[in-house]
Amino acid sequence: MISIVLATKNPGKLKEMKDILEEWGYTVQSMAEAGVELDVLEDGDTYEENALKKASEVSRALKRAGCRILTLADDSGLEVNALSGEPGVYSSRFLGADTPHVIKNQKILDLLWDVPKENRTARFVCVVAAVFPDGRTLTARAAVEGRIAHDVRGAEGFGFDPIFDLPEYDQTMAEIPALLKNKISHRAKALQQLMEALPAGGLE
Ligand code: IMP
Repeated sequence: MISIVLATKNPGKLKEMKDILEEWGYTVQSMAEAGVELDVLEDGDTYEENALKKASEVSRALKRAGCRILTLADDSGLEVNALSGEPGVYSSRFLGADTPHVIKNQKILDLLWDVPKENRTARFVCVVAAVFPDGRTLTARAAVEGRIAHDVRGAEGFGFDPIFDLPEYDQTMAEIPALLKNKISHRAKALQQLMEALPAGGLE
């Protein structure tokens, strides 16, 4: 049985990653459950850089506390083609890290007010990083394609989900059930790739 600490303080991400990994049979702890209190400054220019920084800093803190355990972190973002891929890797910093998503979502709708449906294409990107107790690292990247909606719809999920339309479901990511998001999302796909790439011979 592989045990994992999730290096995130984002409650939406934490719930999704925990639900996905527990469904696959892993034992998962939050940073709080593992006794780590740490704020990692997200200042990288790539998803990989940020995800590795979060997982590495938390892994080091766990080791200092005598805990040798696989640590995972995710860095993700929304890439809007009509905004040249913005906010992308800077999604959490878009309009300021503490600005509520109702304001961020409305800003994206306002920026795209005159953009027709066919040009509202966008994707969620997720990179998941693993740091092993011996310091080795692994990353995996995945994306889910969609469109920016014309209005805010749905109460599931978190972040940009209410403005992200999934054409094949004719619903936003915040309208589909959490169980479905956890099967089709960028996060689920990146986690699946990462877990499939874990070394079979153990984690030490
Ligand atoms: P970060 O990975 O902590 O840098 O956060 C990325 C930003 O994208 C945050 O503002 C999140 O709320 C948002 N975000 C990341 N993943 C998702 C998702 O699955 N749905 C909606 N928003 C997301």
